[in-house]
Amino acid sequence: MKISKVILPVAGWGTRSLPASKNIPKEMLPIFDKPVIQYVVEEAVRAGIHDVVFVTNRHKSVVEDYFDRSVELEELLEREGKTKQLEAVRNVAAMVDVMSVRQKEQRGLGHAVGCARNMIREDFFAVMVGDDFIVGDDAGLVQLVDAAEKYQMPAIGVMEVPADKIDKYGMVAGTEIAEGVFRITDMVEKPALGTMDSRLAIVGRYVLPSEIFDYIMRQKPGRGGEIQLTDALAAYMKEKGMLAVKMKGHRFDAGDWVDYLTACTYFGLKDEQIREPLKKALAAVLKRF
Ligand code: UTP
Repeated sequence: MKISKVILPVAGWGTRSLPASKNIPKEMLPIFDKPVIQYVVEEAVRAGIHDVVFVTNRHKSVVEDYFDRSVELEELLEREGKTKQLEAVRNVAAMVDVMSVRQKEQRGLGHAVGCARNMIREDFFAVMVGDDFIVGDDAGLVQLVDAAEKYQMPAIGVMEVPADKIDKYGMVAGTEIAEGVFRITDMVEKPALGTMDSRLAIVGRYVLPSEIFDYIMRQKPGRGGEIQLTDALAAYMKEKGMLAVKMKGHRFDAGDWVDYLTACTYFGLKDEQIREPLKKALAAVLKRF
C-alpha cells in the first residue's frame, strides 16, 4: 500500500471565522507568517504525500494559487537580493503537485470528498480537512499512513476529548490492538451527551480505500442535512473493518478562535527573531486582563 495522494476539502463556509473569512477563505488566514493551509499541506508532505487534490468552490481559487509559482514576485525578490523571502516563496510552489475540483454546493464533508472521486485512481488515499493541523515530526497523518500500511486497513485519526464535548465531534469506540491503535466497533456523528462512553473523537485525518466512494454515493443527508463522511465510514467499518489511531502531537483547529490565537502565539514564540520582543509584548498585554 502506497499513499501518494490527499484529498483536501476547503469548500466550507467557515461561519465560525466570520467576518474574517468573508472574503478570505479561513484556510488562508495567517498563523504567524504562513496561511493555515500551508501547515496542513506540510503535515501531508511529512507523511510522504506530494499530490494534493483541493476540493474548492468559486470563492476559493486563491488556495490553489498559493501553491503555484509567482514568477514576477520571484524576479523582484531576486533583483532585490531578498534571498530568504525568495527561498520561502519558491519552497511553497515546489512543495506539492496540485489538482482541484469544485464542490458546487456546500453539502457537507462527505459530499466534498465524493466530488474528488474522479481524481483518485489509487486503491488507498488520504483525506485531511483544510482547517486543522497537527504539529510534531512523528505526529498526525504520518501515523495513519504507518498504521494503514502495517495492518493493510483504512485508518482514521482520533484524539481524546472531555465527556461534555462529545456532541461536537464524530466519535468512535473500539478495542485497543496496539498502543494507541484501535479496531473500531462503533462510530457516531456528534452523539448526544451521555450516549457514548468513549472519548475518542475523529479529528479530520483519514487513510481510506477507494471503495469508500460507493458508500459516500449511497449516503442520504444526515445530521444538519449534510452528507456526512462519518456515516459512510460507519457503514464501511461495519462491513469491512477500520482502525482508529490516537494522534500524538498538538492539534490546532484554526476554525476555533482560541486555538487560532494560541497557534499564532506558539509559532511566534518558536521564532528566535521575535521570541523575546513577543514575550515582552504579551506580558504587557496580559497585565491588563
Ligand atoms: P467545517 O465544518 O469545519 O468547516 O468542515 P466549515 O463548514 O467551513 O466551517 P464552520 O463550521 O462553518 O465554521 C471541515 C472541512 O470541510 C470542508 C471545510 O472547508 C473544512 O476544511 N467542507 C465542509 C467542505 O469542503 N465542504 C462542505 O460542504 C463542508
